[in-house]
Amino acid sequence: MFGGTDKGTKVYIETFGCTANLGDERRLRVMLRRSGYELVSDETQADIVIVNTCTVVQRTELNVLRRIEELRERGKEVVVAGCMAAAQPELLRAKFGDVKLITPAEVQRLPLDFELDGVIGIVNIANGCVGNCTYCIVKRARGKLRSYETHEIVRAVENLVHRGAKEIRLTAQDCSAYGLDRGGCSGSSSRDRSRLPSLLSEVTAVPGDFKMRVGMMNPFTLLDILDETLDAFEHEKVFKFFHVPVQSGSDSVLRDMKRPYSVEDFKEIARSIRRKFKDCVLCTDFIIGFPTETEEDFQQSLELLKELKPEKVNITRFSPRPGTEAAKLKDLLEREKKRRSRIFAETYHKIALEKNQELVGAVKEVLVTEEGVKGGVIARDAAYRTIVLKERLPLGMKLTVKIVGAKSTYLVATPAA
Ligand code: F3S
Repeated sequence: MFGGTDKGTKVYIETFGCTANLGDERRLRVMLRRSGYELVSDETQADIVIVNTCTVVQRTELNVLRRIEELRERGKEVVVAGCMAAAQPELLRAKFGDVKLITPAEVQRLPLDFELDGVIGIVNIANGCVGNCTYCIVKRARGKLRSYETHEIVRAVENLVHRGAKEIRLTAQDCSAYGLDRGGCSGSSSRDRSRLPSLLSEVTAVPGDFKMRVGMMNPFTLLDILDETLDAFEHEKVFKFFHVPVQSGSDSVLRDMKRPYSVEDFKEIARSIRRKFKDCVLCTDFIIGFPTETEEDFQQSLELLKELKPEKVNITRFSPRPGTEAAKLKDLLEREKKRRSRIFAETYHKIALEKNQELVGAVKEVLVTEEGVKGGVIARDAAYRTIVLKERLPLGMKLTVKIVGAKSTYLVATPAA
């Protein structure tokens, strides 16, 4: 991939951004090892550092650029992979000369084989999307939707489970768009063999003791397969975790964002999920301070938040991204965007804390999936809530715990006697 022979060359990879980008890193790792590179866990030992970049918001872009600069100042050879390599090659060349780039499209050509980290496996099921959101740079980075064949995905899951994966994250820029590029069409029926519900029934049929977390599903691609998708989520191997980004509680802002659904459509999705699954996590994303967002639009987002009370919310303060339609609109004042984001975040944390506090005293079956940053471990319940235990337990262990504490973004538990 870098040309020449590479036996023993030490490579360190640092990834920014989403689970899909992390999936790309894990694929790259398999390829690099096979080509004879040695992967190291610390940049100081590395001959080459691959910075696997993200550019979804301006702040991340700036962090990435700073990091590349810092590594080059330390004398490291830097290779830039990920979304910036595809969306902003001119910027990278202007700053760093003829720096070597690896685009996501090049990673897509590698075999669908992922390195396992601990007990969490990641499987990218598609790349790109079918949307045209006016604020989004990801389309430039990842292009049109290309879904992997079901049998390739099933094989990737089997490999990971065979190597000890207990949690598999199925990921894509839009999981519910899966298959739309391969004959699956909007308005598809339950007989449609190429879309997400059918993929889920294939991967849950893989033998072994593991659970799947399905990644982001856009309302406009989820709507016409909603019932079948919810049926597929009933399987015990699927976490009852629904990440459906709404982005705004105002229909006029959604129109300006070119998100082809209404707030009512989103509410219908949320209600259907909650009707079917008494215990679930509804996760959504809001962009605050889109250029055409008025105070009234903002209040509508706030009302939607208070009405639906999602368990998890990702809040992004709007920043113009180069080459997008929204970048041509007059941006709101930074001060105003900050004010709205602060109010929004405070409201969300209050709601989330109240919901989590209701769970104190509950007894739950959990799966230990990660080491905690401050010692102890992180476990997941059936709805994929983050549950922190201070005990050092083996990864992959299943146990019964009692919830003894609550924060807005996680629960604290102890093993039940
Ligand atoms: Fe970032 Fe690219 Fe993911 S822009 S959020 S790494 S798809």
